Amino acid sequence: MSEATDCRGGRFAGKVAIATGAGRGMGRAVALLLAKEGAKVAVNDINGPAAKTVAEEARQYGAEAIDVPGDVSSADDVSRVVEETISRFGRIDILVNNAGISSTTRPLETITDDEWSKVIDVNLKGVFLFMRAVLPHMKKQKSGKIVNVSSSAGRSVSTFCGAHYTASKAGVLGLSRHAALEAAPFNVNVNAVAPGTIDTPMLREDASEELIAEETRNIPLGRLGTEEDEANLVAFLASDEASFITGATIDINGGDLIL
Ligand SMILES: NC(=O)c1ccc[n+]([C@@H]2O[C@H](COP(=O)([O-])OP(=O)(O)OC[C@H]3O[C@@H](n4cnc5c(N)ncnc54)[C@H](O)[C@@H]3O)[C@@H](O)[C@H]2O)c1
Repeated sequence: MSEATDCRGGRFAGKVAIATGAGRGMGRAVALLLAKEGAKVAVNDINGPAAKTVAEEARQYGAEAIDVPGDVSSADDVSRVVEETISRFGRIDILVNNAGISSTTRPLETITDDEWSKVIDVNLKGVFLFMRAVLPHMKKQKSGKIVNVSSSAGRSVSTFCGAHYTASKAGVLGLSRHAALEAAPFNVNVNAVAPGTIDTPMLREDASEELIAEETRNIPLGRLGTEEDEANLVAFLASDEASFITGATIDINGGDLIL
């Protein structure tokens, strides 16, 4: 086994992780980092072939990995993903609720019912459904780490998306706080991360080069965030090093939003 793949004794050795929306972008970076550091990973995405590719990449690091395609906004899909993970790996130690969709910036009064429902269902209800399905397992085993991906939009206002996106990401923060309080007696930590502008396929699809350049100039650290920046934070919150952190929201934005 090469040095790159011989890492089974890492920070997450013996841990089982589910990462949602992990077919590309930040979710993929998180799944691969956890795999590199010893976790067994279940790679979820609504895009089945993308999840499969990332699970294959994780196996290149010597990790046990499965692809568990499904829509986070569907209770049936979420149940199936959790059941498949338990049946393959026997437990769930880490849940990273990363899947999310953006929306075009448009005046609130032009947002249709369908657009509202779609964004809220994926970005907020998806986080609820996964926590509802996973928490009983974590509570029973008296340990677990949940990291929910919100956004600077949830702390303030979205730069590139509409009011429904801002509302969905603010909802994730409240949901995470509440879950943290309920889960704490069971030694389960629930935290949220609030990324600013991170260079992912979502950003490149949503914003023009000019807008990205302008946004970059406004970031005090002078650059966009990378998928790895975000993955490092999520991995820290998923690790034992963060065992006294719960109910927190950690900003990761290069100083773009200093509260
Ligand atoms: N990129 C940014 O600047 C930024 C900033 C703040 C927050 N976020 C949030 O971070 C998360 C990841 O963003 P990204 O930029 O990597 O996005 P991305 O679009 O590059 O990747 C998101 C992944 O989620 C998957 N997905 C979408 N809907 C899904 C569903 N219903 N069920 C399962 N999977 C689904 C997509 O197929 C895709 O693979 C999202 O929640 C996003 O809202 C991103």
